[in-house]
Amino acid sequence: MSDFFETHLSKTDDRLLTKWAHYFEIYTRELSRFRERPITFLEIGVFKGGSVPMWQAFFHPESRLLFVDIDQDCAKFANANAHVEIGNQADPEFLAQISAKYGPFDVILDDGSHINTHQIKSFTALWPHIRDGGLYLVEDCHTSYWPGFGGGYRNEASFIEFAKRLVDKMHSWYTDQDALFPFHPIAKELHSVRFYDSIVVSEKQLKTDRPTTLTAQNGTVSRSQRALDIRGRTSIFAGKDGS
Ligand SMILES: C[S@@+](CC[C@H](N)C(=O)[O-])C[C@H]1O[C@@H](n2cnc3c(N)ncnc32)[C@H](O)[C@@H]1O
Repeated sequence: MSDFFETHLSKTDDRLLTKWAHYFEIYTRELSRFRERPITFLEIGVFKGGSVPMWQAFFHPESRLLFVDIDQDCAKFANANAHVEIGNQADPEFLAQISAKYGPFDVILDDGSHINTHQIKSFTALWPHIRDGGLYLVEDCHTSYWPGFGGGYRNEASFIEFAKRLVDKMHSWYTDQDALFPFHPIAKELHSVRFYDSIVVSEKQLKTDRPTTLTAQNGTVSRSQRALDIRGRTSIFAGKDGS
């Protein structure tokens, strides 16, 4: 755990904080680069308010922090630098309203209901409101393996399976099976999908061009996108062992 979180946990007040212990290392790894400048941050899920002071202390003091919960009682955790909006994370209209009012966001953290359909609905509605270079984190993704949360091992309706399909879409530039696996436009803005134990991080990076191959010889660099247009590809490198 980083010094920040270690120190913060020992200084918490009566606003209860609930997080899995191994998340703090992931937060440090993923979010430290957002600390140096004011950002716009949204966390879904407030509960007893413990994460409000934690994120306020973690991010730059001029950051805009928004917290969302379905429980009206959570409104009391708003303060001068932390907004709280009450609504349902599975309601696209509510999410559109808060995005118009507070977005675009640098970082969104879904620590809400952990119901798989909710996680997918929130991601789908909010991903367009993530800034270039921003992150969308979904936590407690172990509920993808819990039938009681709409998950279950390899259940297509789980968030983990949804995120695996994002990985496919990210690679759809390279399709060799256009009918089965067509190009998906999210490839133009999905930099990476990182799977941790129970946290999935999707990073946005607007790409101005298609992936390009580089060859360099005697100081001359050549670029090509031809490989993307070929179909029925076979390897020019394979088979050297006779296979
Ligand atoms: C895990 S707690 C949040 C914990 C908090 N982030 C923390 O770190 O201490 C989950 C919260 O999600 C809220 N929630 C449940 N269903 C929701 C929904 N459909 N939309 C928005 N919030 C929801 C619950 O009311 C609860 O307060």
